[in-house]
Amino acid sequence: MIFKGEEVINGCEVFDAEHLMLVNLINAIHKLLKEGKKEEAKRIFKEGLVKYTEKHLAHEEEVMEKFGYPDLDKHKKAHEIFKKVITEDMGKLEDAKVFASEAALAMGWVFGHIKKNDRKYVEFFKEKGCWEEACKELEKPVELGIEEELREILGEEFLEIKK
Ligand SMILES: [Fe+2]
Ligand SMILES: [Fe+2]
Repeated sequence: MIFKGEEVINGCEVFDAEHLMLVNLINAIHKLLKEGKKEEAKRIFKEGLVKYTEKHLAHEEEVMEKFGYPDLDKHKKAHEIFKKVITEDMGKLEDAKVFASEAALAMGWVFGHIKKNDRKYVEFFKEKGCWEEACKELEKPVELGIEEELREILGEEFLEIKK
């Protein structure tokens, strides 16, 4: 496990769960690479990380738009960089060691985004008094089709919100 996940908790359960899933995906890819399972790592990268990143970012943008978040355009621009970091930079990696160090760099950026930018909309929803409503609107985290597989790969290292 290279990332533990505490850093991405912003207090919005559904989005926190989505952020943790991103961390799970990174950890799983790293673990597979370390075990020499390159093809599997690539598949989890394509079918998991890339697709889930798209879904999560779209989910956030949809909710921010619905509740009139004033910095939406700026946030969307940051998401474009987020996508580039995930799809292009991390997509080139095949070796576990390189992946770990590159992932650490990329995730430094991603964690920074979650801690700074994503926390801002949480604060905005709270200030505007629509926190409960916005959270209800979220209903549940976007699904990851390969969650069971991810749970198997990570075992006890699978991160989720404790209820
Ligand atoms: Fe996010
Ligand atoms: Fe975001």
